[in-house]
Amino acid sequence: MLAEADKQVLQATGEIAATHAIVPCGAGSVAEAVTAHYKAPGRESRAAIIAVEPTDAACLQESLKAGQSVTVQTKDTIMNGLNCGTLSTTAWPVLKAGIDVSVVISDAESHAAVRDLTANRISAGPCGAATLAALKKVCFDADAKGKLGLDDSSVVVLYCTEGLRDYPVPT
Ligand SMILES: Cc1ncc(COP(=O)(O)O)c(C=O)c1O
Repeated sequence: MLAEADKQVLQATGEIAATHAIVPCGAGSVAEAVTAHYKAPGRESRAAIIAVEPTDAACLQESLKAGQSVTVQTKDTIMNGLNCGTLSTTAWPVLKAGIDVSVVISDAESHAAVRDLTANRISAGPCGAATLAALKKVCFDADAKGKLGLDDSSVVVLYCTEGLRDYPVPT
């Protein structure tokens, strides 16, 4: 998936590599793979990594704040696949070293991103669309945007881990 994404990005941009990658995080294994890929020692072009979690299942964000892997009490979310209270033990050291910014989003923000993507004929469920919601969030946060060096020349890869499915629409 990661090698294919690299290839598609170069084709789509005329040989400009990704500058940022956004990945959903539950127990952290997908984010671990994405982080290890873009931050591999031998890789020519490194990308900043943004991880996104539900507000009520933010074990990565809380662990980054604590400087150690911590367990959080989670609540129901439409992002079911991201509803994890503890990180994978192998993922944590990789994420600690490699995640540039951790973002949390609400169910309403995830749902809005599902709708945006659907309107653009992209099939994404709440976990998949979470990465678009995270991009919007960092773009509205001057500090995070500056820290990440996000600007008009950025090439951002949004990893979508879930196709459109039924879920209870947040009210
Ligand atoms: C749809 C979906 N997206 C993302 C993830 C997150 O994967 P990980 O638990 O490796 O962080 C999961 C996990 O089950 C999932 O079901």
